[in-house]
Amino acid sequence: MRSYRKYLKRSTAVGAIALAAFSLQPGSASAAPAPDPSGSVHTKVVGGTKADQGEFPFMVRLSMGCGGALYAKDIVLTAAHCVDGSGDNTSITATAGVVDLEDSAAVKVNSTKVLQAPGYNGKGKDWALIKLAKPIDQPTLKIAEDDKLNNGDFTIAGWGADKEGGDQQRYLLKATVPFVDDAACQKAYGDQLTPGDEICAGKLDTGGIDTCQGDSGGPMFRKDDAGQWLQVGIVSWGEGCARPGKPGVYSEVSAFAANIKKAAGELGG
Ligand code: ARG
Repeated sequence: MRSYRKYLKRSTAVGAIALAAFSLQPGSASAAPAPDPSGSVHTKVVGGTKADQGEFPFMVRLSMGCGGALYAKDIVLTAAHCVDGSGDNTSITATAGVVDLEDSAAVKVNSTKVLQAPGYNGKGKDWALIKLAKPIDQPTLKIAEDDKLNNGDFTIAGWGADKEGGDQQRYLLKATVPFVDDAACQKAYGDQLTPGDEICAGKLDTGGIDTCQGDSGGPMFRKDDAGQWLQVGIVSWGEGCARPGKPGVYSEVSAFAANIKKAAGELGG
């Protein structure tokens, strides 16, 4: 398990794919992409469509090849497996404010510090905070503080691969995936799953829609009762991408909300 996680992380850093971690045939789960209502050639995350400019203004692309969300204007919430540890770190660039990473209007800000989840060892606790050199003038994404809304349909978004083995994307892609309960997810993953720390989502029967390599660290979110976006998950891992019976696994944000808040305070947020 440990080496599997390391493999995912390394492959993410180079924008490649973690297929070899499992002995299943590559490509077997490249489920047919859903038709794109806009008629464009792009159908992505896996099985998603292009997000509109400004639709998810809290989305951030990180230079090591991960996603993230603005927890505060100068703090990005991402995955622990996207970073190397905690401490001063000026090597990460966050790109925000655009769906097109090549848009000249993109805002790019460097990191100053990283705080990886205390006790992170590759199983569960897959969250980290990145402090930015200056605030980004975009709306932040509220995190779930309890498990009340850890159900229903979730939105996923990212610039990661559009299929197993696929390329990183220039344009932000989005899709909707249904909640998968712990029992069903444990059936898929056995004790690789850490149910208290993780929440699963995907189309169990058909597959076809999922996050994938390079989406890690990005948010999974839904509307709260007031109609505001609420982050319930952080893209963490899965066996392949969008395979039937193999849902995406996300850090369960509500389980860490208090720790995240405390950590943000320590970063000066
Ligand atoms: N670990 C991957 C990354 O670093 C994310 C994989 C998500 N996989 C999935 N099937 N939902 O980008």
